[in-house]
Amino acid sequence: MAVVRATRRVHFCAAHRLFRADWSDQRNRDVFGDCANPNWHGHNYELDVTVEGPVDPETGFVMDLKRLKELVERRVLLDVDHKNLNAEVSWLEGINPSTENVAVAIWARLAGELPTGVRLAKVLLRETERNWVEYAGPSAGGTAKGEA
Ligand code: NI
Repeated sequence: MAVVRATRRVHFCAAHRLFRADWSDQRNRDVFGDCANPNWHGHNYELDVTVEGPVDPETGFVMDLKRLKELVERRVLLDVDHKNLNAEVSWLEGINPSTENVAVAIWARLAGELPTGVRLAKVLLRETERNWVEYAGPSAGGTAKGEA
């Protein structure tokens, strides 16, 4: 039976600030640049959720992508869209909301929620047109990439 990957793309807008309280303002600015702005700023995030599994002989689907969309909405988008990632999202509490950290947290929100036989293959989170990260789960080892 053919094993296929299928992806649903969604968008959300959110505010954040990258900083460490144990660092000076100067060091935060040096490391995190504009993302360290104390009064927050926003990104238009693009999130690709990829699932993998055998093609169901009856439907021809790995998974109904409408169901995947609903799952991503319920487990992720309702919490993060038009929110402040530092202050308003319980599952990001205490996490510096870099694209990498948010992608890993999104993985954890989705991995256990898929139908039997379907596995989460990849979470790709794009913060800007030029910067994105990919996470393929703890067993596969995540990879991060992006071009400034
Ligand atoms: Ni930023």
